[in-house]
Amino acid sequence: MKTAKDTHSLRSRAWFGKNDRWGMAHRAWLRAEGFSEAVFQSKPVVGICNSWSELNNCNAHLRQVAEAVKRGVWEAGGFPLEFPTISLGEMLMKPTTMLYRNLMAMDVEECITAYPLDGVVLLCGCDKTTPAQLMGAASADVPALMVPGGPMLRGMCRGKEIGAGTDIRRLWEQVRAGRLSEEEWCEVESCVSRSAGHCGVMGTASTMACIAEALGMTLAGAADLPASDSRRLALAERSGRRIVEMVHEDLRPSRLMTRAALENAIRADMAIGGSTNAIVHLVALAGRLGLDLPLETFDEFSRTTPVVANVRPSGKFLMEDFCYAGGLRAVMKEIEPLLHRDALTATGKTVAENIADAACFNREVIKPLAQPLKPEGGTVILRGNLAPTGAVIKQSAVSPHLAQHQGRAVVFENNLDLLERIDDPKLEVDESSVLVLKNAGPKGAPGMPEWGHLPIPAKLLAAGVSDMLRLSDARISGTSFGTIVVHIAPEAAVGGPLAVVQSGDEIELDIKNRRLELLVSESEIRKRLAAWRPPDPHYTRGYGRMFLDHILQANQGCDFDFLRARNGADRTPPPERFKNPAL
Ligand code: FES
Repeated sequence: MKTAKDTHSLRSRAWFGKNDRWGMAHRAWLRAEGFSEAVFQSKPVVGICNSWSELNNCNAHLRQVAEAVKRGVWEAGGFPLEFPTISLGEMLMKPTTMLYRNLMAMDVEECITAYPLDGVVLLCGCDKTTPAQLMGAASADVPALMVPGGPMLRGMCRGKEIGAGTDIRRLWEQVRAGRLSEEEWCEVESCVSRSAGHCGVMGTASTMACIAEALGMTLAGAADLPASDSRRLALAERSGRRIVEMVHEDLRPSRLMTRAALENAIRADMAIGGSTNAIVHLVALAGRLGLDLPLETFDEFSRTTPVVANVRPSGKFLMEDFCYAGGLRAVMKEIEPLLHRDALTATGKTVAENIADAACFNREVIKPLAQPLKPEGGTVILRGNLAPTGAVIKQSAVSPHLAQHQGRAVVFENNLDLLERIDDPKLEVDESSVLVLKNAGPKGAPGMPEWGHLPIPAKLLAAGVSDMLRLSDARISGTSFGTIVVHIAPEAAVGGPLAVVQSGDEIELDIKNRRLELLVSESEIRKRLAAWRPPDPHYTRGYGRMFLDHILQANQGCDFDFLRARNGADRTPPPERFKNPAL
């Protein structure tokens, strides 16, 4: 159902539509930028929320994308105004961008609500910028349309394709095992990241772009076009035109990001073999929308959604191949019987209408639903006495011989301890051992960094070991692979059972039955927990202190407790609330 919005009811009219002192001042000060009186004649004001930053290479092309969006907004009769937010560059920001996802979401929400915007186009790319913008837009609930920046071109080195993240990890292990020379390693550095855009595998950035499209928050086909493909700028221009229509239709995030849309996003995530991080971000997004999204939903959908995208790290190809094979639209066409086909999207059409003419052009890259790459979805949820409120494993990237495994724990108390001892020749470890990292969760690290891809000890690498069972309360990059359990909740730093695992304890993983067990008696676990003391907090002031005071656990999406919607209707403050009493 479309709701025509009268131009007089535009939100921006509360700023620009009055002939009083403040109306004049709002117009006059903006005219300092060289705008004529024509822009104030009832044109919808469209904010272009830009996460461009030279500190974030994945988003470094977004100024050009913003210009294309502006063209579209002007063409459709709108008035575009670009504004920056903080940007979260996965490579350079320490200790982790996840520490700042909620800060960026707050920045996005507050800019949208505080300024005279009738609609907003969200420009994102690198891992956390996409969920942060989705969360902020959900809370602001002003018509919003996302334009992801797209993946980078494939890396090429000595005739071989390399995908950022995934292949760097593989090659680094070869360096540590002495199988790759320093000269070759240096050459990889110059070849792996050939263009603007986010990592070119199905890592978190690609996953979240696919999720944004599956949620209905982008135009169809927006998820996978390479960043440097001219069609991305054309898509940005079309998005600029479309957001003006969305303002007139009052097509807000709350009308698009419904439970059905979230379920479609989870189906898509499973079918592409998406990043484990998507679970944390989708749970947080649901919290902003006032929707309950227990981890069990992911597991239920994982059991009934095959992986059809043959893309690294779960498969063989890169995002460029995925796009040329038909991209997310082709995947959604494959899994159409599993989707809510009538869910409304930002195009103004339903999911079924958007994918009506979608086709697959390469069956090596996107498999048919009847002959999938893997019979079940990429990520599954584990429970057990080691993870009472949940843990996550990317089963599509697991070594088959470790899917059911029992082994002796080799425990590292924190990341520093890990780095100091992992390559110690005297470390008592073999290929059946279970590497355990504690205090790497939301509070413990802090910020739940992607430390979960624990390195295999150098002496085992040299002996040809390529995978081991590893577990932690950290996250992993979406580009990671291997038998790695992450997101263990409650985390060690708040006294979860992980806190009292000791080297020598036996641990059992059983993916088929979704179990993760510490094979120690309950009475012994209780005794150890009674003697446990929390680590000192990392921050006593500033944003870090606020983070520690309000961060929720992984199974709750790691949002701040005060940012979740208290009910479905308290997200958009009317501009009248901010009328200056002095007027
Ligand atoms: Fe930005 Fe990988 S570093 S997506």
